[in-house]
Amino acid sequence: MDTLKAIQERRSTRGFLDRPVDRETLERLLSLAAQAPSAINIQPWEFTVVSGEERKRLSRLLVKRMRERNISCGPGAKRPLQEYFTDRQKGLLDCMLPNLPEGVSFQDFINEGSCNFYEAPTAVIITIDHVFSNARLTDIGIVVGYLVLAAHAMGLGTCPIGLITAFDDEIKEMLSIPDEKKVVIGIAVGHRDPDSKINRPRSERAQLSELVRWRD
Ligand SMILES: Cc1cc2nc3c(=O)[nH]c(=O)nc-3n(C[C@H](O)[C@H](O)[C@H](O)COP(=O)(O)O)c2cc1C
Repeated sequence: MDTLKAIQERRSTRGFLDRPVDRETLERLLSLAAQAPSAINIQPWEFTVVSGEERKRLSRLLVKRMRERNISCGPGAKRPLQEYFTDRQKGLLDCMLPNLPEGVSFQDFINEGSCNFYEAPTAVIITIDHVFSNARLTDIGIVVGYLVLAAHAMGLGTCPIGLITAFDDEIKEMLSIPDEKKVVIGIAVGHRDPDSKINRPRSERAQLSELVRWRD
């Protein structure tokens, strides 16, 4: 698939088919993602691939902890957001609301769905070693971008799941990830359900004029 087409087409998947992604496909996906550039080619990303029953076991723990601690998806802002940011957030809410399962609130759908990796057969947990400063999170962001685009080009759906960073200790313990690693993000990976209503909305993007300052 053409790269520009993949960039235009890709949107997050929150409705997956109950069909596993085979090991060979996952290896190809991660090899493609790992082609991402990184500062001085340090490649600070590490992947833990969690599939099948183990993914379900992890999700049960995350849902339990999320409910106990009342954790919710949010922008992670230090102060109240400016209106143009909240407008974009509202845009996502508006396009998702009519497509939610009946009787389920947006917050519950996102919070429970995220902890369940939206029932995707595989979750890729991306960690970074504590030795690195926050500057290296840029590299992780790029590898995530490569991963979601490569998955789309391979006919797979993905959803980045930032919520799970609230459960760093629990995830590391369950998956035997060493203590000196930090969970940066998870990615739900699977086959997109073409009949799932929740996959229909396409979130909009801001106009370039809102995002760019030109200086000539
Ligand atoms: C760093 C990051 C964290 C995210 N965390 C979550 C999450 O915890 N739960 C979720 O449902 N979506 C999550 N998303 C998906 C975003 O909501 C989604 O990318 C955004 O609304 C734009 O929609 P699109 O991916 O369909 O283009 C996350 C995306 C990114 C990049």
